Order: sequence, then C-alpha cells, then structure tokens
Amino acid sequence: MKTTISKIGLYAGQEVTLGAWLANKRSSGKIAFLQLRDGTGFIQGVVVKADVGEDVFAAAKNLTQESSLYVTGIVQTDERSPSGFELTVTGFNVISESKDYPITPKEHGTEFLMDNRHLWLRSKRQQAVMKIRDQIIHATYEFFHEHDFSKLDSPILTGSSPEGTSELFATKYFDEDAFLSQSGQLYAEAGAMALGRVFTFGPTFRAEKSKTRRHLIEFWMIEPEMAFVEFDENLEWQEKYVSHLAASVLKHNQIELKTLGRDTAKLEAIAAPFPRITYDDALTLLHEKGFDDITWGDDFGSPHETAIAEHFDKPVFITHYPTSLKPFYMQPDANRDDVVLCADLIAPEGYGEIIGGSERIHDYDLLKKRIAEHNLSEETYEWYLDLRKYGSVPHSGFGLGLERTVAWLSGVEHVRETIPFPRLLNRLYP
Ligand code: 4AD
Ligand code: MG
Repeated sequence: MKTTISKIGLYAGQEVTLGAWLANKRSSGKIAFLQLRDGTGFIQGVVVKADVGEDVFAAAKNLTQESSLYVTGIVQTDERSPSGFELTVTGFNVISESKDYPITPKEHGTEFLMDNRHLWLRSKRQQAVMKIRDQIIHATYEFFHEHDFSKLDSPILTGSSPEGTSELFATKYFDEDAFLSQSGQLYAEAGAMALGRVFTFGPTFRAEKSKTRRHLIEFWMIEPEMAFVEFDENLEWQEKYVSHLAASVLKHNQIELKTLGRDTAKLEAIAAPFPRITYDDALTLLHEKGFDDITWGDDFGSPHETAIAEHFDKPVFITHYPTSLKPFYMQPDANRDDVVLCADLIAPEGYGEIIGGSERIHDYDLLKKRIAEHNLSEETYEWYLDLRKYGSVPHSGFGLGLERTVAWLSGVEHVRETIPFPRLLNRLYP
C-alpha cells in the first residue's frame, strides 16, 4: 500500500511504501536508523541487518542525506516516537542519490542558510514555520467566510500610493508611471461599497530601507474592509480575528509548535477583548518608563512599542495617533482635530505592530482637502473620491501583516524565516 507519513497510522501492522527523503541517519554494525521525511511528517525507519540481509543493509548504511527513496516496511506502533509510529524497513529503492548536501546537521550561519533558502526550507524547523503560515492562511479564509466577507483581489500594478509616497516601488506601465501595490485598501473600500464586507489578501511591496527583524520588502497583507462599521466595531473585528488565528494554530499545529519550542501558554492567553490605550496615555506610560526624549507628535519606534506591549499580557491597541503621523484617508476624531480614529495592534514579546487600521473619511469635501494637503494628485484619486459621492457610508478596515503574525505565533525571531523566499534589503536570491 502506498501512503504518506501523515496517514501511516491507518496501516499499523501492515506493509506500506513511502516516497521519502533521507533527513538523517545513524547506524551500527547490525542496525541502521533512517530519519525519513516526506513533507507530511517525519518517521524513523529501522533497518535490521539480520532481517534484510547483507546487501540491503550495506546500501542503507551508504545512503546519503537528502537522497530520495521509495521505502517499504511494516508499520509499528511506537509510543516513544513523536509520530507514534516507526517503520521496520523491508526494502528500499533509491530514486535519486544526493551528493554533498550543503546543509548538514551541524550549525550554519544565517547568510549561508539564506543563500540556500531553496534547500533550507526542507529542514524540520522551516517546515514547521511554513505549516503554521499555511494554517494562518487557512484560518483567515475560514474566519472571514464564516462572517460573510467576500475575498476581493486588488491589483498589484497601481497608480496610487495609499501609505505615502516615500516607500513606493516604481515601475513603468508602458508609457505611464506605475507602482507595485503598497496596500489593497483603497480598492477594498470600493469593494466594501459593492459587497458590504470584503477582504483582500495578496503581496504588497515597500521600498523601505529598513533592516530589522520585522521588515520585508515584499510581504503579504490581509485587509478587511467593512461598510457601516465605525471605529470601535473595527477593533472588535480585529481582536476576534486575531484570537481565532491563535486558537486555530493551537488546535492544528501542536507538532510544529513543539518543534519550534514555542511556549504555548503565551498563545492560550490570546483571547478577546484586547486592552486599548490611547497614544496620549501611551506617551505618559513611556515617560514613566524613562523614555524622556519622545514628545507628542513623535512616532513610536520598536523600543517604544515593546515597552508598551510589556505592560500587557495580550496584544494591545494603541489608538488615536496624531493626524500628522498617519495617512490621508483616516477619519479625524469628532472631538479633537489633531488625532485620528485609528489603531495599531501591538503583539506581545517584542513582535511589534501586526495590524494597522482605522475608520476612513467618508465626507467628500474633507477627503478632497486631505488629498490636496498630502500633495497627491486629485486626478489619480478621482475614482476613490467617487466612493464618497454616490451613497457614502461610514466604513472601516485594517491590514494584518502575515509574516509578523507568523513570527509571533511561531515564536520565530525574524520575519525572514516566515515567508518561503524573503525579499530583504540586500537579498533577491534565491
Ligand atoms: O500599517 P500599514 O502600513 O497599514 C496599511 O497598509 C493599511 N492600508 C492597512 C489597512 O488599513 N487596510 O501596514 C499594515 C501591516 C502592519 O501592521 C504590519 O503588520 C505589516 O502590514 N507591514 C509589514 N510587514 C513586513 N514588512 C514590512 N515592511 C511591513 N510594513 C507593514
Ligand atoms: Mg502601520
């Protein structure tokens, strides 16, 4: 019977054949232990010389790391093994021999591993991170579809710059100037006026010269947008969604969390509601914590965000930032013109901002004024202004950065390990 490691439990006591790679190997004179992987899991294959004979045993001892094989054996229940099963090998065929696989079980430097990202993905740790990423993607669709949101695909090639002009990737669109999308938000707003509740989910690009554990040049963002939803309800959606992601990873990724050594108690604590603190109060808190240099109107950097997050054991919303710090489309506070109805959601444990969101301006004249103040061309945003002309409604939305969320839930230090092929300041290879 041909099967996979994930399904092997269905065949206890029977003979099965697996397509697999040799992850690692140990052997003595009489017995060889093959660590086999097929992407669905890991299992130990045991080759006993007395059972398989001289030739097969010698071939097993000569197997090299990452060679591909068809392995046949009897499935044994084994309490001690992580998968609960072991394979007593009866025979195998080498499909392709792997010579001098560069990533050996010894320690390697990060640059070397990043140069070999196409191979590094095969490691147990990287597979675990990719599986958690996949689960978060799955849980995202699950959550939004369950709540009547439609997925809306926004364009990658655009003429607009929702998040400011300094970080745009410029390209040519035949004779026109174009940019790679920074955010699908503006298109999601058009979608919300058509479909009520939508979410975009796609790659976004920031030509940011930042070299930190939180920044990628190309990252994936989930951007829900909701008609008839104001500031407070927007936060409720965010805490519900993020709690769902954490619960889903806890439910489906126990093996991966264990591989990564993640403290799962930290994930169990992530349940709505999340604490909220205004920018003003956060500033006071920072002053109390000895950050003396920062004054009203300054943006918070990583150390500030981390200090605020440390104060809480759940993700925390920082709300009502100064208008001058935020993009043109945010709705001002009705009682105060100098702050906007926005919130950043800061993850615990130093993972920083995972969500940025706000209520959007729905008044035509105010939006037009803001576009002019931000020196944006009215012509480019004519379609966006149209949304305020024909049945405008209060609406809100947010953007969750997938890689920062994967890093946080997996407990991985740097976002470079949370996307298959990271695009970093100095890296376009592989
Ligand atoms: O705060 P940002 O820039 O917000 C927007 O783009 C809004 N249009 C979202 C919306 O309201 N629809 O980005 C949102 C999130 C951040 O909180 C962060 O998680 C992630 O996207 N992000 C990055 N992740 C990795 N690398 C970068 N360079 C990132 N820039 C933003
Ligand atoms: Mg932001």
